[in-house]
Amino acid sequence: MKRPPFVLGVLVSGSGTNLQAILDAIAAGTLDAKVGVVISNVATAKALDRAKAARVPAIVVDHKAFASRAAFDAAVVEVLQAHRVDCVVLAGFMRLVTSTVLDAYPNRVVNVHPALLPSFPGVHAQRQALEYGVAISGCTVHFVDAGTDTGPIIAQAAVPVLDSDDEASLTARILQKEHELLPMVLQWIAEGRVVVEQPEGRRPRARVRPSS
Ligand code: GAR
Repeated sequence: MKRPPFVLGVLVSGSGTNLQAILDAIAAGTLDAKVGVVISNVATAKALDRAKAARVPAIVVDHKAFASRAAFDAAVVEVLQAHRVDCVVLAGFMRLVTSTVLDAYPNRVVNVHPALLPSFPGVHAQRQALEYGVAISGCTVHFVDAGTDTGPIIAQAAVPVLDSDDEASLTARILQKEHELLPMVLQWIAEGRVVVEQPEGRRPRARVRPSS
């Protein structure tokens, strides 16, 4: 019997190119999952058009309409659960999520960040990397914990930083890698191959089991 699809809930705030990469990977058959719902905190986000074009429910939950972060997150969880989401993907979602989301989806909230964490967490990661003067940057896909970009790292991909780079060119080079890495990691999670371990005396870490 065919198993039910692994349902993703994708949270977005902007252009949604990572959402598009997920939708394209599903259409291409390299990601065995379904996007059950796309939620944006920004009504004008282009990501919403991408969701609609793929006939995925596209829902706006405007953070400005809520008195607290927790109240906003509770509304987001309600939408995710109504769409039977198994795994939450922060794909350019420019809000910190609270324990309200994390407790509803333990080790099931995934973020893509445009730097090699733990370097350059938070906003403007590409600008931070350029200002620091690193020779290599990249992207990180990690489980979300209570901190800002501090959760267990699942996978990273590196890109060179060129002398000629400005923020736009570095952002574009990193985005290309994000579009490869994020759907690949989601497939590993859908296959049940990503586990979080707590090694003695170390931070929790994600391990990817080999495919059977
Ligand atoms: C991506 O580069 C993603 O890594 C970044 O926002 C961009 C969204 O692009 N996320 C963060 O900086 C989160 N701290 P997209 O909307 O085209 O997918």
